[in-house]
Amino acid sequence: MSSSFKESFARAVAETEAVVYAYLPAEEGHQKTIFEAMNYSVRAGGKRLRPLMMREAYRLFGGRGKEIEPFMAAIEMIHTSSLIHDDLPCMDNDELRRGKPTTWKAYGYDMAVLAGDALMIYAFETAAKALALGADAGRFGRAVGILAEKTGIYGMIGGQTVDVELTGKPISREKLDFIYRLKTGALLEASMLIGAVLADAGEDELMKTEKLAADIGLAFQIRDDILDVTSTREALGKPVLSDEKNEKTTYVTLEGLEKAESDVEEISRRAVRRLEELPGEKEFLRGLIELLIFRES
Ligand code: IPE
Ligand code: IPE
Ligand code: MG
Ligand code: MG
Ligand code: MG
Repeated sequence: MSSSFKESFARAVAETEAVVYAYLPAEEGHQKTIFEAMNYSVRAGGKRLRPLMMREAYRLFGGRGKEIEPFMAAIEMIHTSSLIHDDLPCMDNDELRRGKPTTWKAYGYDMAVLAGDALMIYAFETAAKALALGADAGRFGRAVGILAEKTGIYGMIGGQTVDVELTGKPISREKLDFIYRLKTGALLEASMLIGAVLADAGEDELMKTEKLAADIGLAFQIRDDILDVTSTREALGKPVLSDEKNEKTTYVTLEGLEKAESDVEEISRRAVRRLEELPGEKEFLRGLIELLIFRES
């Protein structure tokens, strides 16, 4: 990895984070606790992968406006809400996230449930601000629809449902693929699709973008499973061996570590090939996909 890519990557993450922070609620008023709990988890850190990929997809198709920014904040809010709920004792029961006590540890179960709900709906309140920043009404409407669909029952929540339901039970490869496509792939698909829609990409380009993002999502979740068994709590900022504790069937338990590693590479190479079919300046996204293959956190 060239040092100039690393520098431009670090700059892009910092810019993305500043956009996300700009849309967080002020911590004031009688319901201040909910604002604090929301901001706590968003500000705790994270790779900011989803808003970053949204911005890059937008730029790839020639987007230059500001209307992408509320959507960038929105997708990170939705992602963070999924993590808050994922960590709850009734789900994965984890105590560390982004290097800090999970939201339920810091604020209690009640506030963690509310903070997850609040971030999920505030995401839509935030996305709506794109209209005032000049978003085309038709494209805006389509982007909101994608955001809702990929978050909900046909997306992340649908995937989490099957994931939770099958805890402790054997799973076929086909069902595991379904879970990964929805619980993790869907929000990455939403990220890139929304960027492409707002930049007015054509229908064929949208289809290719969705497949590309699906591949990135699948490779990303397999890598997450690998890191759960090979990494450390310090490097990840979340507990290791969480899947084993919860008796989860993962890509690693099903296929073994070696195959999981080589599949991450293969799926990522396929993603790069799909990327090459799209127009625009692709160097950054290519570098990002490659960086994710061997990510350590
Ligand atoms: C964790 O996502 C949950 C999965 C979908 C695997 P990330 O690894 O992107 O978490 P952050 O945002 O960097 O904390
Ligand atoms: C979670 O998958 C995917 C979500 C939608 C949050 P995991 O349960 O493996 O994510 P981590 O490992 O806790 O981040
Ligand atoms: Mg989980
Ligand atoms: Mg989890
Ligand atoms: Mg995991």
